[in-house]
Amino acid sequence: MKIVLLGPPGAGKGTQAEGLVKKLFIPHISTGDMFRAAISSGTALGMEAKRYIDQGKLVPDEITEGIIMDRIAQPDCRGGFLLDGFPRTLPQAMALEEMLKDQGGLDAVLDISVEPEHLIVRLTGRRMCKKCGAIYHLHYNAPQQENVCDLCGGELFQRDDDTEETVKNRLSVYSEQTAPLIEFYQKKGLLHVVEGNHPINTVLVNLGKALGQNWN
Ligand code: AP5
Ligand code: MG
Ligand code: ZN
Repeated sequence: MKIVLLGPPGAGKGTQAEGLVKKLFIPHISTGDMFRAAISSGTALGMEAKRYIDQGKLVPDEITEGIIMDRIAQPDCRGGFLLDGFPRTLPQAMALEEMLKDQGGLDAVLDISVEPEHLIVRLTGRRMCKKCGAIYHLHYNAPQQENVCDLCGGELFQRDDDTEETVKNRLSVYSEQTAPLIEFYQKKGLLHVVEGNHPINTVLVNLGKALGQNWN
């Protein structure tokens, strides 16, 4: 299955991707995670991407499309993949179509829908594991021990772009550049909208239903 996860910043794309890939046995490909890895390793790509990410702007399409093209050409993507955070502009969506044209295109686009007023609270309260990338929230999904990852014991940190000011920029970039993809994919008959303002596991079950799976 070749799946795209859509949704505004904080909708729960990363959180749901963790659950989806365990059920579907396909790789989770997050452009945001790939950029953050490049930033921590101090590569030229990372330094370039950081200029945009820290301001809540999108990294230019050519850079992002190149990364995805290389990634989905890897052997582990032969049986499908779950894209999280790509595409997020119309040109990126068209580039993806071109990349997949000999493989039958996408199978589904899952749009996690959450009202804007919840997103700022979700993002400013998010914490992530330095070691394994697991996603927590101070109130909605707190680790058992403060600042320690339940899964690997790693230390938790706050993303640099999760400050209130940058979050507001990210949300307006989403409305202007990414929200038009909802209509784009609806017209292609690929879109499934799933309400994201439910407990994490309920959202997972409903995403499964949209894919024709019964995970109850
Ligand atoms: P990226 O890392 O993709 O960030 P984003 O799209 O802003 O999305 P987030 O990761 O912030 O949110 P999420 O939906 O994954 O939510 P999460 O599951 O963590 O991109 C970062 C930056 O990289 C971009 O701003 C851009 O600069 C650049 N970039 C990336 N891709 C690009 C592209 N294609 N083109 C150009 N630039 C690109 O959950 C959020 C919080 O909510 C967590 O605390 C979680 O615990 C909590 N939560 C989750 N689900 C629930 C629930 N059901 N109930 C209550 N709380 C919940
Ligand atoms: Mg994410
Ligand atoms: Zn961890």
